[in-house]
Amino acid sequence: MGVGVLCAVQGAAESAIVQAVEGSGGRLSVTRRCADLTELLAAAEAGLGGVAVVSADLDRLDREAVAELHRCGVRVVALGDPTRPWLAERLTAHGADVVVEVPADADAVVREALGVLAGAAPARPAPEAGRQPVLRRGATVAVWGPTGAPGRTFLAVNLAAELAVLDHDVLLVDADTYGGVVAQVLGVLDESPGLAAAARAAGQGTLDLPTLARLAPVVLPRLRLLTGLSRADRWPEIPASSTEEVLRVARGLADVTVVDTGFCLEQDEVLSYDTHAPARNAATITALEQADLVVVVGAADPVGVQRLVRALGELTDAGLAADRTVVVNRLRPTVAGVRPADAVTAALARYAGVRDAVLVPDDRAAVDAALLEGRALREIAPGSPARRSVAALAERVAARVLAEARVPVA
Ligand SMILES: Nc1ncnc2c1ncn2[C@@H]1O[C@H](COP(=O)(O)OP(=O)(O)OP(=O)(O)O)[C@@H](O)[C@H]1O
Ligand SMILES: [Mg+2]
Repeated sequence: MGVGVLCAVQGAAESAIVQAVEGSGGRLSVTRRCADLTELLAAAEAGLGGVAVVSADLDRLDREAVAELHRCGVRVVALGDPTRPWLAERLTAHGADVVVEVPADADAVVREALGVLAGAAPARPAPEAGRQPVLRRGATVAVWGPTGAPGRTFLAVNLAAELAVLDHDVLLVDADTYGGVVAQVLGVLDESPGLAAAARAAGQGTLDLPTLARLAPVVLPRLRLLTGLSRADRWPEIPASSTEEVLRVARGLADVTVVDTGFCLEQDEVLSYDTHAPARNAATITALEQADLVVVVGAADPVGVQRLVRALGELTDAGLAADRTVVVNRLRPTVAGVRPADAVTAALARYAGVRDAVLVPDDRAAVDAALLEGRALREIAPGSPARRSVAALAERVAARVLAEARVPVA
């Protein structure tokens, strides 16, 4: 009767697959048609099959589920959807034995299933089993702020540059999925693959320290840069699970990883029924979840301060950024009164209970000069007021996050 096939295929493809299996000349036969993952796992545990043919978007089909199928001696043949390539990537990362990209061709699925069964190699372990140990545990600092361009990128870049001056190995990651520009701000002209390539390797379970180091070139002494998306519409390439793995490996590469993030914290609606769907804000939310400290930046004008107050509330509501340092950027008397520092400090204390915000002056001459040259402030205007404030911020950040860093972890 051949090897039993557990079929958990959704939609119109199912009957074609069943037909093709039954037409395999007795080498395969469908032993159970499963409506969902629970049924599939039950059938696998009951020893009803040697191979499972599954839709890549089967609900809750994750690394654990694939591992469970393997434990039951069931090989996993997943059906990818060419219009949603990230599904195939995810299933590969989860350890599926093979992902067939064209579900319409049922005979190809049967051939792949037979190929997997004929292969002498044991079921592939999920790539997690081969994850590289991280030998030191650097810290992660996310720079986040609400909409309105308060200066997240400016701060992330210059905070990273100042931490490097303080003699720490620093990795700067551009994780803004709405338009990463860190490479341009730092005058890196070649379009290196950066974060997207690191995320791809993470998804395939092959991201190790040498790979991350290769993808993140040194742009200043002790400062590496993992560039962002060259095109904003490529955001599905940076899913949450890959971002998490990139940041985990980053802890092994640098004493401090500074992450420039997007502004938006909303979970896409689609998540309510498909927890595996890619989400545009996943990289930002993951960075905030993983961060040991979040630098929350707001603009010093009245609108910016109000947005900052709301943003701090949003972070709290979302259970994010328990450890935070608040920065108010572009402080100037023209929008905050003759004593802008006092006005902003009083507003933040009153409306957000924040009493220790770092204030960075509006310093157009210095910041523009650095932008024009594609350099860090410390290189172009080392004595400028903005640079002095960011340097002080770096000292504070280092004192907060580096005490517990460098602890070896498994
Ligand atoms: N302290 C400052 N003084 C003068 N100009 C500044 C200062 N901080 C930031 N800028 C300028 O303000 C603009 C916005 O800053 P930046 O790009 O860092 O904001 P952002 O929050 O990352 O915005 P986006 O939403 O585009 O990612 C830039 O032109 C930057 O050079
Ligand atoms: Mg930015």
